[in-house]
Amino acid sequence: MANQPIRLTESVKGAGCAAKLAPGDLDRALCGLDLPVDPNLIVGLDRADDAGVYRISDDLALVQTIDFFPPMVDDPFSFGQIAAANALSDVYAMGGTPKTVMNVVAFPAKTMDITILRAIIEGGLDKMREAGVVLVGGHSVEDSELKYGLAVTGFIHPNRILTKKNLQTGDCLILTKPIGTGIIVTAIKAGLAGAAITDKVTRAMATLNRDAALLMQDFPVHACTDITGFGFLGHLAEMVVGSGHGVRIRASSVPSYPEALEWADMGLIPAGAYNNRHFRGALVDFSPSVSQRVQDLLFDPQTSGGLLIAVEAKAAPDLLRALIAKGVGDAALVGEIVMESKERIMVD
Ligand code: CO
Ligand code: CO
Ligand code: CO
Repeated sequence: MANQPIRLTESVKGAGCAAKLAPGDLDRALCGLDLPVDPNLIVGLDRADDAGVYRISDDLALVQTIDFFPPMVDDPFSFGQIAAANALSDVYAMGGTPKTVMNVVAFPAKTMDITILRAIIEGGLDKMREAGVVLVGGHSVEDSELKYGLAVTGFIHPNRILTKKNLQTGDCLILTKPIGTGIIVTAIKAGLAGAAITDKVTRAMATLNRDAALLMQDFPVHACTDITGFGFLGHLAEMVVGSGHGVRIRASSVPSYPEALEWADMGLIPAGAYNNRHFRGALVDFSPSVSQRVQDLLFDPQTSGGLLIAVEAKAAPDLLRALIAKGVGDAALVGEIVMESKERIMVD
């Protein structure tokens, strides 16, 4: 079996990567339902953040999240690593420390060799070891489409929760990973991506956001989220809506893969990018200098993307230097929070 290529992505029926249910659809499903209330639920469904937070005591709360999706790369071990890194990321984005995880598996056992599932779980275990979390169990079902991910529980201090919603005027925005993985995954599925870019983007998607998350705890960070299915501008929009603040983004400062821009030129844009633009485009003012392909890239859905961190301006250069020194080498200052243009995103 060694080195035999396994075309995992051929098992994926839907287009694009890790496509989330459209937010409008989820709202319609939940609207008017009688959800349980509890005074210790600090962050719940009503606030729709990266993860839910439940207070245990004055100095301890649980952070809980779950993410699973179909493969976006052909190598099962790498897919397991990426799915695990992606699921853990939501705890890191809240400023929490992941502690325990459970495997979530849907596997087409009738058509796929069980050694593939073993390799996927080995990839997941590799990231669990790196993150210092314990696997406590899981659940698996037979399904026509392969999916894998984790349910994650972490610890956090109830007074030190980083949500999406605390932008302050003058804050600088730092993004810790390049964007464009959705476009590149589309190219991988189309058989257009060579080994070098496939390896590069696979390593990036499998990289934990742990180092960035640990570092930001030592800086005056006001808000944080991770960039996943809604794309860079979609997740930024989640921070901006209801904040009373505007944001200015320099498109040329947003780290991205050059290959993604080339494939965007060829029209290899995942459907999710159009959905993201449809959902949040009305909040964004693009300067005429921002080309269509760059606009598409800024809405490109990401898998296991970086953290988007809002930090006090005077501390931003030090945080950026610390990130780069720690090996988060693609981190970049991408914009700032401004007084004018309330709840709008200006991109120039
Ligand atoms: Co998230
Ligand atoms: Co999440
Ligand atoms: Co998530």
